[in-house]
Amino acid sequence: MVKKKTCVFISGQGSNLKNLILRSRDKSFPIKISLIISSNNNAKGINYAKKFKIPYQIVNAKHRNPDNKILKSLNKFNISFICLAGYMKIISNKIVNKFEKKIINIHPSLLPKFKGLNTYTKVLKNCEKKTGCTVHYVNNKLDDGDIIVKKIFYINSNDNENTLKKKTQTMEYKAYPEAIIKIFRNR
Ligand code: GRF
Repeated sequence: MVKKKTCVFISGQGSNLKNLILRSRDKSFPIKISLIISSNNNAKGINYAKKFKIPYQIVNAKHRNPDNKILKSLNKFNISFICLAGYMKIISNKIVNKFEKKIINIHPSLLPKFKGLNTYTKVLKNCEKKTGCTVHYVNNKLDDGDIIVKKIFYINSNDNENTLKKKTQTMEYKAYPEAIIKIFRNR
């Protein structure tokens, strides 16, 4: 099987990145992480790039034309698939259009509910009975594209933002690889 050369975009912890790197070591997993792009030079996730010897690039506000820089790197590494994993910047239309149906994102809510930031606060404030995570294609609107995988759990009365985050992220580590397998099984 020829694995798809994939770039993971991060801005922070990189726990989903780490999970995808480990999963992609499996011969039958459809992608190989060939490049990591971080919008933040202090992102902890960069340590996984170093540890697993994966090329990485920091593209932040200091760059005059960040889109061109990103596109150049994607081109250089022959990237054909993109996973956003805690990437805190909006992906420009230029990149989305070039990689239509080839960029996916993971969001810590049951989309279309609670798009954007501060998801756990919103979930608790709204007294939701259940929550979870969603893997979806990226389009030109925020947290909006077609849904690939959704995972749900029920909220306990003693849950708080920390416990919700922990439970949601544990689900994310299953949902993200599952979505990738599903995409390439159908192609
Ligand atoms: C994840 O919970 C993801 O849903 C959200 O940002 C978080 C990133 O966490 N988009 P990490 O950097 O993968 O640890």
